[in-house]
Amino acid sequence: MILVTGSTGNVGSEVVKQLAQAGHKVRALVRDTKEASGKFPTTVDIVAGDLDNTDSLVNAMKGVSAVYLLAPFSPAVAKQEGNALEAAKRSGVKRIVKHSVLGAQWEGISIAKWHRASEKAIEASGVPWTHIRPSGFFPNALNWAGMIKNGGTVYYPTGQGKLGVVDVRDIAAVAVKPLTENGHEGKAYDVTGAQALTSQEQVDIIGKAIGKQLTYVDVPNEAAKDSMLGQGMPAPLVDALLEFCDAIKSGQAAAVTDTVQQLTGKPPRTFEAWAKENAAAFR
Ligand SMILES: NC(=O)c1ccc[n+]([C@@H]2O[C@H](COP(=O)([O-])OP(=O)(O)OC[C@H]3O[C@@H](n4cnc5c(N)ncnc54)[C@H](OP(=O)(O)O)[C@@H]3O)[C@@H](O)[C@H]2O)c1
Repeated sequence: MILVTGSTGNVGSEVVKQLAQAGHKVRALVRDTKEASGKFPTTVDIVAGDLDNTDSLVNAMKGVSAVYLLAPFSPAVAKQEGNALEAAKRSGVKRIVKHSVLGAQWEGISIAKWHRASEKAIEASGVPWTHIRPSGFFPNALNWAGMIKNGGTVYYPTGQGKLGVVDVRDIAAVAVKPLTENGHEGKAYDVTGAQALTSQEQVDIIGKAIGKQLTYVDVPNEAAKDSMLGQGMPAPLVDALLEFCDAIKSGQAAAVTDTVQQLTGKPPRTFEAWAKENAAAFR
């Protein structure tokens, strides 16, 4: 049995779906079983659990051999994943595949530090591990949908910096390998799309997909911060996101890898294809 945390989110839901489609026994950890019912293929076992409650995780890991460990974007990543690690040790889990972030090993920005702290704890635990370190997700662009619908100008502080954005289905397809095959233990996989794109290029691609002339405007961090805080995003997350934007702007996030092709035998999906599939969200 494979347990997936973060199973209702962008990546976790795809990991659950792909494992189930391939015929593996999969259990989805959810906080609200009522809310989650109907979200997964019928063969999926659904279990209640919370990353802030170790006992609930011990219960969820009964009979589990491998865990896809994904915690939400927050400074609590290492704390929550530490709870899951403790539960995994108590439950005799044989393999942890940790969902991390591209560049975690450099610990240059807060998101990397949060994830690296957890990676280190997992590496020291004695439980066999693999790290999945993805670049920025395609669906992050959905955060621009309001600006695209209302006026068509996207304000975002990444200048002309590029990011090797990636489809969450490709991240999931890579994650399925170490969850279900031997030979990936002790490895960290950097997962990106085939092409690094600026925000301007992503906006142009979305514009083509919806047949509308869109504009991208680089804005100072302070303006972006006010806007994100105004939308209710907690201050520590805003600060971490702006550090990430700075890294993009300075060219530190432009790496592109061939991990998707190497592990899955298929080229990564393109942002063009994703934008067409998701055009309705931007109209
Ligand atoms: N976005 C990016 O570009 C990017 C790039 C690299 C790495 N990352 C990393 O990717 C992760 C986010 O992945 P995602 O976008 O797939 O997640 P997401 O869509 O934001 O979903 C978060 C998931 O975590 C669950 N969750 C929240 N709090 C929980 C708790 N206390 N106990 C158990 N489950 C809880 C949510 O379940 P509910 O349904 O209960 O809310 C949901 O399933 C973060 O670690 C982030 O640092 C993101």
